[in-house]
Amino acid sequence: MKDFQHIVFFTGAGLSVESGIPTYRGQGGVWENYDYQEYACQEAFEKDPEKVWDFHDKRRAMIKSCVPNSAHEIIAKVQQHHPRTTIITQNIDGLHQRAGAQDVIELHGSIWRLRCSNSGDIVENFETPLKQRRSNHDSWWRPDIVWFGDPLREETINAALNALQKCDLFLCIGTSAVVYPAAQMPQIAINNGAETIEINPEETPISNLFKHRIKTSASLALKELFPEYNKQ
Ligand code: APR
Repeated sequence: MKDFQHIVFFTGAGLSVESGIPTYRGQGGVWENYDYQEYACQEAFEKDPEKVWDFHDKRRAMIKSCVPNSAHEIIAKVQQHHPRTTIITQNIDGLHQRAGAQDVIELHGSIWRLRCSNSGDIVENFETPLKQRRSNHDSWWRPDIVWFGDPLREETINAALNALQKCDLFLCIGTSAVVYPAAQMPQIAINNGAETIEINPEETPISNLFKHRIKTSASLALKELFPEYNKQ
């Protein structure tokens, strides 16, 4: 660890599996049970906002009932002890923060923020179920998450790129690496000369890019890599 100045943890849904939150793809994945075209895109929201909110309300309640697992906790502890650590996540569940992580770059937004469809106002909200689906601007709140077809926020991408430029150790954990532009981030870190590790029990389309591969669950791998931060 002393050899590295700036660590980036790049995380996906696999990180939260051990907390009980299903992934998006693969067996039992969210998109196996729900057609994203009906629940996770702007067109679906415009067509039937109540239906889309029912789906997100259910997800908020499910996520609220889960707690961070040891992988989230180890990442937060690494950050506490190595201040030049950046967490870039595709997850919208807020579990990194609940484990104590700071300044998490949420590429795909957060299910715990609402954005007014009219004014663009953003508020934090943890109610389950959400009491008011409509804002004061005679408009709908929508989850402040990146749905299919939505652009990523420019300042979020820039913050991620800034960390990728500086990082010398890049850990890619629990992502199928099929959703762009997020899936480009490992290549950017490699181009900048970072040492790279992929942690995933399954092969991904970008597995061959990584110098090191650990084919186990996130928590097992991180306990091995950072035994000093593994709470007994
Ligand atoms: N530890 C580590 N990885 C795991 C574990 C585990 N315990 N369990 C499963 N995985 C891996 C799977 O092998 C898979 O490669 O996690 C990955 C999850 O992939 P996806 O479900 O595709 O999740 P993710 O890559 O985060 O999805 C990207 O897709 O729909 C969107 O916006 C959504 O942010 C999400 C994006």
